[in-house]
Amino acid sequence: QTSPVAGFDLSGRQVVISAGGTREPLDPVRYLGNRSSGRQGVALAQAALDRGAKVTLVAGAIEVAVPPGAEVVQVETALQMREAMNAAAESADVVVMAAAVADFRPAQVAEHKIKKSADADDAPVVTLVRNPDILAGLVERRRPGQVVVGFAAETGDESGSALEHATAKLARKGCDLLVLNDVSAGKVFGQDETEVTVLAADGTVSPVPAGSKSQVSQAIWDAVLPLLR
Ligand code: CTP
Ligand code: CA
Repeated sequence: QTSPVAGFDLSGRQVVISAGGTREPLDPVRYLGNRSSGRQGVALAQAALDRGAKVTLVAGAIEVAVPPGAEVVQVETALQMREAMNAAAESADVVVMAAAVADFRPAQVAEHKIKKSADADDAPVVTLVRNPDILAGLVERRRPGQVVVGFAAETGDESGSALEHATAKLARKGCDLLVLNDVSAGKVFGQDETEVTVLAADGTVSPVPAGSKSQVSQAIWDAVLPLLR
């Protein structure tokens, strides 16, 4: 065990962070994707590097530059992300799923580009299948002492508030921390300003003051720190 250097409270720690959206191919040129920019995951990676951690970034589609100093594993699909996360998690003290993983993927990937037929009314029907839950799998494979962090963007609806949905999700996933992003107020994707609430498995609910994704990332690492042994 290396002794932590003052001010570098994550030194000697290995963290793996997923960021960005997955892309699920339909054919060689088309995919189903989402609007994740990857900013939060990249900001978390940068903050961890700043605090002395060794960082592996498993990057899906991201719109921002990867932080120099991180080991980057580029992936496209949820299945590839699962493989990369499981491999990197084997030696990690902290595992963070900040990526926007597609819940579904096309059941079949066409080998050749899908072409229109002569019939002007004809259109293909795409059948989807469920992707595996990467976070739940990481929790299942968790090493003793490893801290697993999930993210959730929730809106309140008739069945409950965003906080209630997140509390249920934390219990369902079995992770140590769930970072809730309440998107009820019509907040848009791709912004740097964010506001989150950190939910812990012990029931603690900690609102984080609104700030840049970099400031919020520091607060998330502050919440992880006491869980590390
Ligand atoms: N996640 C994952 N694998 C999936 C889907 C989600 O690892 N196939 C992770 C996300 O990276 C995030 C957390 O699970 O850390 C919550 O994602 P979210 O989409 O909010 O949860 P879901 O279980 O997919 O539930 P929902 O039906 O609300 O989308
Ligand atoms: Ca989902």
